[in-house]
Amino acid sequence: MKLLVTGGAGFIGSAVVRQAIGRGHQVVNVDALTYAACLDNVASVADNPLYAFEHVDIRDRAALDRVFNTHAPDAVMHLAAESHVDRSIDGPSDFVETNITGTFHLLEAARSYWTKTGKPEGFRFHHISTDEVFGSLPRDPQQLFTEDTPYDPRSPYSASKAASDHLVRAWHETYGLPVVVTNCSNNYGPFHFPEKLIPVVILNALAGKPLPIYGDGSNIRDWLYVEDHADALLLVLERGVVGRSYNVGGENERTNLELVETLCAILDQKRPKATGTYADQITFVSDRPGHDARYAIDPTRLRDELGWRPSVTVDEGLEKTVQWYLDHEPWWRALQERAGVGARLGVSQ
Ligand SMILES: NC(=O)c1ccc[n+]([C@@H]2O[C@H](COP(=O)([O-])OP(=O)(O)OC[C@H]3O[C@@H](n4cnc5c(N)ncnc54)[C@H](O)[C@@H]3O)[C@@H](O)[C@H]2O)c1
Repeated sequence: MKLLVTGGAGFIGSAVVRQAIGRGHQVVNVDALTYAACLDNVASVADNPLYAFEHVDIRDRAALDRVFNTHAPDAVMHLAAESHVDRSIDGPSDFVETNITGTFHLLEAARSYWTKTGKPEGFRFHHISTDEVFGSLPRDPQQLFTEDTPYDPRSPYSASKAASDHLVRAWHETYGLPVVVTNCSNNYGPFHFPEKLIPVVILNALAGKPLPIYGDGSNIRDWLYVEDHADALLLVLERGVVGRSYNVGGENERTNLELVETLCAILDQKRPKATGTYADQITFVSDRPGHDARYAIDPTRLRDELGWRPSVTVDEGLEKTVQWYLDHEPWWRALQERAGVGARLGVSQ
């Protein structure tokens, strides 16, 4: 298949690009190269004849039309987005413009191309979204997000993603565009931008800096290794039922405090401190406004209908991730120089 992947220079998009090429798909990576992008993430496939890059902003409809006409994709995998909740609190307009307006332009460009080419049945528009659109769960372990959970987004980021999910479904119902939607829990793994919790903890630990934990650390997230997410996305693209959505999650719930303590224990093993433990650097900081208490995914549909299983446990995935950061210092050092990285964001109310 020829895939048009948006956001392929980001964290998850680059994993999709690398895996898709590894499986013999052709990939056109469409990315505006915002602060969150890094072309080193796809350096391993950049010279592959199956790979092409288009430096295009998804808000630019004319450029999107040119990309569709030039590359004639069989499917779109839409990952381009503003993705950092704390940045969405400080500056929501980029989130509305890219996540909502950009998705609208991409849908229209895809619809125009699909119509012009005779509405091929096999065409897919795969919209990649988040479990944050469902809002916040109570701590009751019986309660999980299913595909039928009503939307209840609570941050500018999740509201903009929810809006984009609605647009995608409407383009299916109204125009018949063959869409699939996935909503995934928190990802972690190699190439995770160093402003997100797990890389921040690893890199601050190594630098001897405080390990910031919002509030009392009791917020719960459901963690999935990024390569397992990419694998699930390609499976849904190939075998998912048109018009359906699939929840993707690793069934690995951890409080933020438990997660940070696990990372500290791995670092204590791999790079012991001269004295004490990395956990001594844990520092509780004021909470994020509107911080959702708990996310937890029920991935039954994806498991039962499509046979998906994650390849690693969270302990294996975290161990691999810490090792990756230890082995890739030039990659993260360069990104730490970028604006806002390393500063506390998202505290304004
Ligand atoms: N990170 C997670 O844990 C997680 C979980 C579930 C779903 N998602 C979703 O997966 C997708 C990818 O997330 P990520 O963590 O890899 O994000 P990221 O911030 O690492 O990467 C986003 C990429 O999109 C590009 N981009 C941003 N605005 C653009 C625009 N206007 N035009 C073209 N490209 C643009 C950026 O340059 C970057 O390469 C997002 O849609 C996000 O909502 C993320």
